[in-house]
Amino acid sequence: MRYLLCNGSPKGSTGNTARILDALAEGISSAPGQHIIRANLNRVQEHESVVSTLLESEVIIIAFPLYTDAMPGITMAFIEALRPHIDRFETHTFCFIVQSGFPERIHCEPVEKYLVRLTEILGAKYGGTLILGGGMMMNPKRFQIVNHIGARLSDTHIFDETCIKKATPLIRFPVVSRGIISLATKLPIAQSFWDSQLRANGAYEHRFDRPYESKG
Ligand SMILES: Cc1cc2nc3c(=O)[nH]c(=O)nc-3n(C[C@H](O)[C@H](O)[C@H](O)COP(=O)(O)O)c2cc1C
Repeated sequence: MRYLLCNGSPKGSTGNTARILDALAEGISSAPGQHIIRANLNRVQEHESVVSTLLESEVIIIAFPLYTDAMPGITMAFIEALRPHIDRFETHTFCFIVQSGFPERIHCEPVEKYLVRLTEILGAKYGGTLILGGGMMMNPKRFQIVNHIGARLSDTHIFDETCIKKATPLIRFPVVSRGIISLATKLPIAQSFWDSQLRANGAYEHRFDRPYESKG
């Protein structure tokens, strides 16, 4: 089986997405005869050549982090590069990994819906979306889940549904916790990192600007 593992993080090999794909690749390789190619989508000039590799692959995994509640622009650019090949994907299975800093599943669900629709538009088979909330780092439990999904992939060519459910069971924090978190984020300490970034970029005084607000 030929797999293409695409890393849609702007950080490429140094980011968290790369570690998740390492765990997946290790799981896939545990079965004999699997051929894995990896591509970093932050090399935008290589997108055309990755599309050619994709057309020769059978299972395509596109993994990306949530940046400002959406997929990174480089991932979107790669998806746009598939447009001229619509209807050449009947023999391809597309699986996705979406990981977010926030731990609740709900942040990734809108993009998950888009990915289901995207696969339909491409005319490919949908192999599932693995959502990993709280994705700031890899831990042993997460490694085990992703590794197991990889190991099962050679049999089923889709992501294991049970593992997907186990990966991020928290949909939303309970109401009480949401209230506490909302108060905590207003404390100066919670803002200190972002404030330091704003100051470092000379933007602190403009932090409440609304440049697109209608004047009329
Ligand atoms: C510019 C930027 C925007 C982000 N926006 C979100 C967001 O909207 N929601 C979220 O849950 N996490 C957000 N995160 C956290 C990332 O999704 C998380 O750290 C992820 O593990 C990064 O993966 P990477 O290292 O492969 O790029 C953001 C991170 C950055 C750097």
